[in-house]
Amino acid sequence: MAKLVINENNKQGTIAPEIYGHFSEHLGRCIYEGLYVGENSDIPNVNGMRTDVVNALKEIKVPVLRWPGGCFADEYHWKDGIGDKSKRKKMINTHWGGVTEDNSFGTHEFMELCKQIGCKTYINGNLGSGTVQEMSEWVEYMTFNGVSPMAELRKQNGHEEPWTVDYFGVGNENWGCGGNMTPEHYGNEYRRYQTYVRQYNEDHPIKKVACGANVADFFWTEGVLKTCFANVPEQFHGFMDFISLHYYTHPDGWEIKGSATDYDDEAWYRTLNKALYIDELIRRHGAIIDQFDPEKKIGLSVDEWGTWFTVEPGTNPGFLYQQSTVRDALVAGINLNVFNKHCDRVKMACIAQMINVLQAVILTDGEKMLKTPTWHVFHMYRHHQGAELLESSLSGVSDTGIGEWTVPEITESVSEKDGMITITLSNLSLTDDKDLTIHFAEDKLYKVEEANVVTSGDVHDMNTFDAPDTVKEVAFTDHKADGNDICVKLPKASVVELRVK
Ligand code: AHR
Repeated sequence: MAKLVINENNKQGTIAPEIYGHFSEHLGRCIYEGLYVGENSDIPNVNGMRTDVVNALKEIKVPVLRWPGGCFADEYHWKDGIGDKSKRKKMINTHWGGVTEDNSFGTHEFMELCKQIGCKTYINGNLGSGTVQEMSEWVEYMTFNGVSPMAELRKQNGHEEPWTVDYFGVGNENWGCGGNMTPEHYGNEYRRYQTYVRQYNEDHPIKKVACGANVADFFWTEGVLKTCFANVPEQFHGFMDFISLHYYTHPDGWEIKGSATDYDDEAWYRTLNKALYIDELIRRHGAIIDQFDPEKKIGLSVDEWGTWFTVEPGTNPGFLYQQSTVRDALVAGINLNVFNKHCDRVKMACIAQMINVLQAVILTDGEKMLKTPTWHVFHMYRHHQGAELLESSLSGVSDTGIGEWTVPEITESVSEKDGMITITLSNLSLTDDKDLTIHFAEDKLYKVEEANVVTSGDVHDMNTFDAPDTVKEVAFTDHKADGNDICVKLPKASVVELRVK
C-alpha cells in the first residue's frame, strides 16, 4: 500500500514564489496576438494588453515574467523598442520564422504588462551581439532616478519615474544562439558585463542571472563558475545572484521531438521519464554550484522548462505553436514537485512559454482564449508560492512504464503556509488508480479543506477553442479520514491537490 508520510515539524525552506514564473519571448504569437494586441485592437485591452489574458494570468498569481528572450534577447537592441511607435525601427526575427519585428512592444510595454499582471520583472540583456554600453544604458534607462542622459530619454518617452527591475539576465544560452562561446569566454564576458549592470536603486538591488547550462552540460556550469569565482571568492553578493539551467522535455529527442497530441502509451511514459530527469539535473548542477557556493547564496534559475513537441500541423515551424493535453498537465505537476523539493537551490523557474508557444498556459485564436491543462496545474499549485516546504516521503510506490521507460507511479511535494498544508500529487500511471494513505508525524486530526484534480477520460484530451473546458480543475472527492490518516484514491493520469488544516 502506498504511503505518504509528512513531517510537519521539519520545515525545509521557503518555496520561492518565483519557482512559478513564466517566460515570454518575441517568438511566434507569444507577445503579439497573445499578450499584446495594441491599443486600437477590437479585442478588449488596456493599453494594448489583452484583458482576458491578463485576468487569466492574475488568477494563477504569476510571480515573475522573463522577457524579451531566449535567443531573441541576444539580438535585441532595446533602443529600437522605445519612443514613437510609428518611427520604431523594424528588424528581422532571424531565430523565429524570419518575420518582421516592428518593435511596437518594447520596454515601456513590458513594464506596463508586468504592472497589470502584478508580477516581478526579469529582463534578459543582450551579451551576444550587444555592447557593454548598450546593456549599461538599458539599466540606466529603466532604473535611474535622477538627471542622466538615459533617465531624460525615459522621461521624454513619457515615463517620469524609474521602474523596478527585479532580475537581469546577462545573456542567454551563450553556449549556443547567444554567441557560441566557451564557458571560460562567457565567464569573462559575464564578469565584464555584469560590472555595468549598476545598482541605481539601493533599496531594491537588481538580481543578476548568469547564463547557465543546457541540460547535462556540467562542463559549462563548472567552467563559468570557475572563471567567475577563481579569484573573487568573497564576491558572491551582487556579483552573481543566479545561474540558469535550461531543460526541455522532448519525447523523441531534439531532432524529431514528437507530436503534442498523437502519442502512444510508450511515448506517454517516455515523456514523463524524460520530465523526471530534471531532478537529476538539479542535483548534479547543484553539486557543482555547491563547490563554489556551499551556503547556497546563488539561486538556480530553471528559466526555460517544459514540453517541446513538433508544431501543430499547418502552423509556421518557426512559431513553436503546440497543443497541450493531460500529458502536459503531468509534466507540469512533475516538474513543479521537483522544484519545490529543491527549493534550497532552485529559487526561480520560468515555464516556456507563457502563451501560444511550447508548453503554454494560455492559447489564443483571434478574440478567443483558452486555458490549457498546464494553466490548471499552475492554478492548483499557486498555494505553494512562498510556503514552507515540509519533509515528506513516499513508500510502497512501484515503478510503472513500458520497456526502459519507467517512472514512479506517484510524485509529490508538500508545503505549509498560514497553518494550511498543501499536498500536490501526480499519478503517472496510464492504467491504475492508486490508493494512497497520507500520514502526519504530528498525532493530530487534519481536515481536508479543499481538494482538486486535473485529469480527463482520455489522456489525449485537450482544450480547444470550441471545447475550452474539456480538461480542467474540478473538485476531488475521493478522500476520506481513517483515524488521523487521510486515504485518497488518485485517478490514473492525474494531478491532485489537497489542502488540509
Ligand atoms: O524557448 C525557445 C528557445 O529555446 C529560446 O529562445 C532559447 O533560449 C531556447 O533554446
